[in-house]
Amino acid sequence: MDNLKKKQAGEKAAEYVQDGMVVGLGSGTTVYYSIQKLGELVSEGLQIKAIPSSTETEKLARKAGIPLTSFSEVSELDISIDGADEVDPEFNLIKGGGGALLREKFVDSLTKKFIVVVDESKLVSRLGSFPLPVEVIPFGWEVSVKAIESLGGTPILRKKDGETFVSNNGNYIVDCHFSTIHQPASLHTQLKQLLGVVETGLFTDMTDLLIIGGTDGTKVITVKE
Ligand code: 5RP
Repeated sequence: MDNLKKKQAGEKAAEYVQDGMVVGLGSGTTVYYSIQKLGELVSEGLQIKAIPSSTETEKLARKAGIPLTSFSEVSELDISIDGADEVDPEFNLIKGGGGALLREKFVDSLTKKFIVVVDESKLVSRLGSFPLPVEVIPFGWEVSVKAIESLGGTPILRKKDGETFVSNNGNYIVDCHFSTIHQPASLHTQLKQLLGVVETGLFTDMTDLLIIGGTDGTKVITVKE
């Protein structure tokens, strides 16, 4: 059922993509459906170029037949479609559950229209139940972790299959429990100032359109025109 909600939200986002657009492709199981849909539309003649936000998404996009481009050719995107781990009532996001937050932030920040696709389980009254992913450089990561603790968080170095998880950028991800995040923008700023912190999974004031897959169908919320 959740997959159906993700599919509906993911596919709906593809309707906003038009000929000639440069499209940012986020990462995760909801954007997966946007990529599949865009692949179908490309095979029917839609002309786009896409920039993937992770090696996983790059593989999916290539397999779907979506032509790719890069920042050596473009400096701005027309539209980006990305998932989220949490969305608050002000449309601030926690992202990075899949570990792609740095490239996602890059792509989603350089886009004219940022579309967020989620199933309804991602909607929260306040951010913070989902541990906040923070990308840190491997060198001295222990120091970064202590600094995050001093901000009141409980950081846990992400592991995968018993090994330290390494992002597409060669960095580590620290999942930080802050319980409730009252001021996401200021927490982001504080975290970014810490030694070794490259990026945080807080995406504040970025969402232009939110597409929610729910039990009663798909809901589209225009956040910014
Ligand atoms: C990856 C992300 C994803 O967008 C986020 O984890 C949501 O994923 P899904 O659509 O699979 O629930 O930020 O870094």
